[in-house]
Amino acid sequence: MIKPHGSETLNPLYVADAAQRAALLEEAKGLPKLLVSSQAAANAVMLGSGYFNPLTGFMSLADAMSVGEGMKTTSGLFFPTPVVNVVADVSAIRGAKRIALLDPNVDGNPVIAIQDVTAIDEATDDQMKTMTQQVYGTTDPAHPGVAAFTSVGKFFIAGPIQVLNYSYFATDFPDTFRTAMEIREMIAANGWQTVVAFQTRNPMHRAHEELVKIAMKRVNADGAVIHMLLGKLKPGDIPADVRDACIRKMVELYFEPNTVEITGYGFDMLYAGPREAVLHALFRQNMGATHLIVGRDHAGVGSYYGAFDAQEIFHTDMVKGQLDIEIFEADHTAFSKVVGEVIMMREAPEGHKKEDFIFLSGTKVREMLSNGEPLPPEFARPEVAKILMEYYQSQK
Ligand code: ADX
Repeated sequence: MIKPHGSETLNPLYVADAAQRAALLEEAKGLPKLLVSSQAAANAVMLGSGYFNPLTGFMSLADAMSVGEGMKTTSGLFFPTPVVNVVADVSAIRGAKRIALLDPNVDGNPVIAIQDVTAIDEATDDQMKTMTQQVYGTTDPAHPGVAAFTSVGKFFIAGPIQVLNYSYFATDFPDTFRTAMEIREMIAANGWQTVVAFQTRNPMHRAHEELVKIAMKRVNADGAVIHMLLGKLKPGDIPADVRDACIRKMVELYFEPNTVEITGYGFDMLYAGPREAVLHALFRQNMGATHLIVGRDHAGVGSYYGAFDAQEIFHTDMVKGQLDIEIFEADHTAFSKVVGEVIMMREAPEGHKKEDFIFLSGTKVREMLSNGEPLPPEFARPEVAKILMEYYQSQK
């Protein structure tokens, strides 16, 4: 099986031994406590579940700056985005060597991890701005990822962590949340060698379905792992349980049995476009996938990124050769009225015109569903559209 990034075997930071976990929880009672941001809690979940291998904890300010600049930590480890624990106020933990991190996303704020504090550094406004620009390609506070990154504070708390639970992801999505270790086991149990991963934060429409099918065929895959984001999204995006139901219905009805695993991971969307695409590739390698699909406007939002920036970044000197996973670069995909199926635009027959494709923007889709207008079957499978319609109508 493909090796994880940066080490021979996966080193998840979740404390698997129940007795050790209980002892750490006992110890946490006597430690200074810090309520962390949603992003830091999600980082802890990703570190705990092996996806951010080989990191051992949160990056220092110097590492985060270095990653922003050149996608490498100060010690030279390739990593595309900062993985940090940033807060506005460190008065409760000043001088502490070991602290308990409290989860903001679970009632009662239970301890999610214990951190050894190796450094606390306050970023200057200039440093925050530089890093934001490098990672997100903009400092516009209207960008949802930028807003999340720049609104939690400027104190970077560095150091290794021991993760005690998977936050709300394991409890709210027991059938879908899977760790990188579990997905590796799944792939091995299925006997799959070539495995296509599909990142998504959407219910899967016809274009998404066809992308997975096309990629599987082209790389001669044994199977695909649909890997959906289960964490926070921007307002207006569809909740994870609804997306999950749509995806399960689509796979049940439209894929060959035993060729697709439906899974999810516990992370908030960064909307960092190209940088996030590279992060996506890194953690799909960690879960054992040999290929990741990167299509149009991958992990994008608004018009901050060019439609194929997230593919081009893999060809830059900074990224080339750093990961073993391969990228399946997909062109804009849509239903062609001429061909009668969903195709990649670059493969349209000669004489095919733009108007021959059926396009629906996200805004248009939301509008139609809110008004109770059915989505065209060329755009969404009727069984999937029905689940979406029920959700939109229930929101009224
Ligand atoms: S993302 O933010 O998770 O990338 P989404 O779930 O919509 O958003 O997309 C998942 C993957 O499918 C991404 O690789 C994206 O580029 C690709 N994709 C979605 N729709 C299309 C399309 N019509 N044509 C080509 N690629 C697409």
